[in-house]
Amino acid sequence: MSSLKTRIVSVLLLCCLLSALMVFYFVLFFDDFQSESKPSSSLIIVSFAEMRPKNASKDDISLRIAAKIEAKLPLPALNTSSEALALLRALQLDLNAEQPPVADVWSLAHSWVTARQLLPPKAPQLSLVLRTLKTSRVLRADVSRTGTQLKLLLELDGQQRALFKPQRYSRQHVVSGDPYAGADRHNGEIVAFHLSRLLDLRVVPIVVSRRLRLSELRAVSSAALSATFTNDSCFYGECHYCSSFDSVCGDLEGRLEGSLHLMLPTKYKLQRVRNPWQRTYRPGVFAPWEREMDFCAAVVQRIPLRPRLLDIVDLAVFDFLIANADRHHFEVFKDVPNSALLFIDNGKSFGDPHSHELSILAPLSQCCVIRNSTYRRLQVLASAPLSAAVESLLAADDSPEPLLTRNHLSALDVRLRSVLVSKEYLIPLSKSDFAVQALIGACLEEKGKQHVLK
Ligand SMILES: *[C@@H]1O[C@H](CO)[C@@H](O)[C@H](O)[C@H]1NC(C)=O
Ligand SMILES: *[C@@H]1O[C@H](CO)[C@@H](O)[C@H](O)[C@H]1NC(C)=O
Ligand SMILES: *[C@@H]1O[C@H](CO)[C@@H](O)[C@H](O)[C@H]1NC(C)=O
Ligand SMILES: *[C@@H]1O[C@H](CO)[C@@H](O)[C@H](O)[C@H]1NC(C)=O
Repeated sequence: MSSLKTRIVSVLLLCCLLSALMVFYFVLFFDDFQSESKPSSSLIIVSFAEMRPKNASKDDISLRIAAKIEAKLPLPALNTSSEALALLRALQLDLNAEQPPVADVWSLAHSWVTARQLLPPKAPQLSLVLRTLKTSRVLRADVSRTGTQLKLLLELDGQQRALFKPQRYSRQHVVSGDPYAGADRHNGEIVAFHLSRLLDLRVVPIVVSRRLRLSELRAVSSAALSATFTNDSCFYGECHYCSSFDSVCGDLEGRLEGSLHLMLPTKYKLQRVRNPWQRTYRPGVFAPWEREMDFCAAVVQRIPLRPRLLDIVDLAVFDFLIANADRHHFEVFKDVPNSALLFIDNGKSFGDPHSHELSILAPLSQCCVIRNSTYRRLQVLASAPLSAAVESLLAADDSPEPLLTRNHLSALDVRLRSVLVSKEYLIPLSKSDFAVQALIGACLEEKGKQHVLK
């Protein structure tokens, strides 16, 4: 009798456990589903056969592969130009929108921020935020001690804080040398923002170009900032690399150009996460990802594919296009599950239009996986072409001087081509990603074997 009771109790317990597990997995999948704009079959595996040397030894920096790929390989034969036009139309801003009070504009921008985005897919009222950021009064200016380079922390009308990065180079100046060389490029920051809109990676904080009058800036400066003015037209701020030998100065009219970045709502705290594909920044010293071609197989053991690893791949594509090889850390929202990777700090971009640093693509070429939505978007933009699409969006910034030179615009097309020339094959991954690791492994093998998966 007692044994029957025990059995019944055991069965009941087992049932409870099973239902709890089912609820748990349902939550997991549901959550996962929510975190992606498309359901879980929306992945693409790319093989990059051309880009990977056949018998790369482990010590080989095998990503420095294909100086040759530049404009030589054909693009996939797609006629997507009408799609590209539709895409640009969807991103159009409402330039005639009536101006509400500044505080309302800032609340609007803050209301857009969620765990996975800083902007909604369609935001015609972004025009208001850009305009207000360009024109609102600066009430207070202080040094900003975050990061290594000179920045100012401004308080704008309507109790909004913004970061100002001053211009350090003329548009024509080419920064050569290491792919992460030189000081920040304020114009690169602004282009990066608009490019992120085109790529539908809406995780770059809103930014505009702005010319500030130095006399007005000085009048509202904190003591710490005032102390770094060497005369009426130059100051050097406070930061790791700041010194009186390296001051920034206004132009002949006493104005200073820079990028002005809207700060995120204070209710979100940011957390820094180290990039697995971080560089060593030391010549001759190689990071694990430079030594091991199967590096990604180890990364998928510790980082969830969705959304984080796929976000890293998106970011790699983005960074490759803007030529930012300095992404040693990422920012995410602290304590927010499924937080997007925020693409903050894009100043190390557009240094040399003739250099296309393929190693930035390592997360893509080593993991062989990318969101279908991202890949599709790249294909559509290639037909625009990308340079023209970027140029048309930059018009919204209304900068007196074009933000990018012709050479940098053309570089965007060359780089996009390089991303798209991967030998691709599609594998819809249904339901689970447990198979991904095997796929990534297989993708790294010889070309012939890949057909088995097709
Ligand atoms: C990728 O997206 C396109 C268009 O949205 C769709 O036709 C295609 O089936 C998708 N591929 C996969 C593997 O999900
Ligand atoms: C690849 O293998 C061939 C023959 O096995 C060899 O001649 C060649 O040097 C190797 N290439 C590299 C990059 O190791
Ligand atoms: C591409 O599409 C456009 C508009 O949809 C059309 O006018 C053009 O003829 C097409 N080009 C090709 C090569 O199919
Ligand atoms: C202001 O100081 C800087 C050095 O910090 C100097 O290069 C510049 O010529 C000075 N400008 C004027 C107008 O004195």
